[in-house]
Amino acid sequence: MPNKWEKILHSKTPKKWLQKALNYQEILLIDHAHCEKKAATTAISLIHRYPDKNLAKKLSPLAREELLHFEQVLRVIKKEGYKYRNIRPGAYAKTLYEASSSQEPQRLKDTLIICALIEARSCERFHALIPLLPPVLNKFYSKLHEAEARHCDLYLDIYSEIFKEDYSERLDYLAAIESSYINKEEQTFRFHSGC
Ligand SMILES: [Fe+2]
Ligand SMILES: [Fe+2]
Repeated sequence: MPNKWEKILHSKTPKKWLQKALNYQEILLIDHAHCEKKAATTAISLIHRYPDKNLAKKLSPLAREELLHFEQVLRVIKKEGYKYRNIRPGAYAKTLYEASSSQEPQRLKDTLIICALIEARSCERFHALIPLLPPVLNKFYSKLHEAEARHCDLYLDIYSEIFKEDYSERLDYLAAIESSYINKEEQTFRFHSGC
């Protein structure tokens, strides 16, 4: 049976992106570090924005885990001889959030689905990169792949716990937007860029 992350995504990462990832390993790692930091920030901001939803129980451990990933990527960046720096973020997450509602409770529902989609895409990209990367990196990405799969499930579980309703129609709608972004041509290479 396919994993949840495989089921919710509408398309696989294009081969063209994988080729770019191998050519731009430095940007891949630096942007990946930023993604881990952003994943922690998003979890913390959700805890802050919805104090009545008991999100800390699941999202505080998730934020800690994302920060550990961030530290691990920083170590890999250093080991590979690269320098961590700020780079302009890609438009992937922004595009997804622009499609989300600004009215509650739909805003929270959409945010949880978008977080699950971002985790699913990260997971899918790690999975696709594992056989292509040098041994040091592929071991590291295998471990991360497992964690991001768990995070994808966790966001959808939170949705079900809070709203006790089926999310599949909205998930399908947002997954279509996600997939069209991933398949469109994009000049700037990022961890979640198009191809
Ligand atoms: Fe992570
Ligand atoms: Fe994650």
